[in-house]
This record gives sequence, C-alpha cells and structure tokens, in this order.
Amino acid sequence: MAKQRNIQIAYEELDHIDELNAVDKNLLLKAREASEKAYAPYSNFFVGAAILLENGAITSGANQENAAYPSGLCAERTAVFWTGANYPNQKILAIAVTAKKGPIGDFVMASPCGACRQSLLEYEIKQKKNIKVILEGNKGKVFILNAIQDLLPIQFTSEAFL
Ligand code: THU
Repeated sequence: MAKQRNIQIAYEELDHIDELNAVDKNLLLKAREASEKAYAPYSNFFVGAAILLENGAITSGANQENAAYPSGLCAERTAVFWTGANYPNQKILAIAVTAKKGPIGDFVMASPCGACRQSLLEYEIKQKKNIKVILEGNKGKVFILNAIQDLLPIQFTSEAFL
C-alpha cells in the first residue's frame, strides 16, 4: 500500500545580519569579503562562501568562471573543496553564503545550486555532523538552516536514508 510521507524543513528568517550571533555574523561578513574575490566576468554575479571549522579556522571561496562556461565553479564548491583538501580531518560547523550585485542584474538570495548541495552533503555525511547553513538575501534578510540535508531531501548518497 502506498504511504503518504511528508518532509518538513525548519529554517529561521532574520531581517538583518545584526540579528545573528557574533560567530555567525562574523562568518557571513567573511563570506561578503570572499565575494569581492569572485572571478565572474561572464555572469557578473559575485558569490562568496565562508566555512567555519571545528578548530575555529575560517576558510572561504568565491565563484571562478571560465570562457568555457561549464568549466567554472561556484563559490560553495570552491570553498568546500579547498577546505577538504587543506583540512581533511576538521569538521565543518557552518557555511555562510552571500552574493554581490554586479553591474548587470540582481539576485534574490544566495542559495547553493543543486550540484553544490550534493557536494556539501558528502562532507556532512562523512563527518557525521550537521553543517549549519547561513544564507543572505538581497534585501538584507538572512536565512538559517540546520543542515545541508535540509537543502537536499531524499538525497543520493552511499548511505541509505531508509
Ligand atoms: N554561483 C555560485 O557561485 N553559487 C551559487 O550558489 C549559485 C551560482 C555562481 C556560478 C556562476 O559563476 C555565477 O554564480 C552565475 O551562475
């Protein structure tokens, strides 16, 4: 018999970055700093991601584009792959993501794309600890989620969720 299942995802919505606690606010400010280092001549969409590790270190990444468009990489994966390569044994506590309006266009909210969600999820499962997600919107709002898994329900992983 078919069973009806529902998935609920809780998230917090803040009106302003100043409502974050000091640690989260600092991480989002680091993400803003990182967005300044984006190489995005094709999209003019400058994304920054900052990652807080268990040892207190903060790493970051910014999107890196390429004339062959698919060869570029999002800020979140730039950040998490660099972190995995340089701090392979440090657990990731949180990731903050923001974007900067470019000369062309606007953005609604910095939120990881599907491929970044899949990549980030791998680290969350590997470390057996949730990664907090802090996302900044273009009108100053900030959204907080408890885990990457919340961004990617019914995910594809090597560990069954059943
Ligand atoms: N981008 C990111 O870096 N992160 C996201 O969450 C969404 C998109 C980048 C990829 C590309 O360089 C540009 O933004 C436009 O899609």
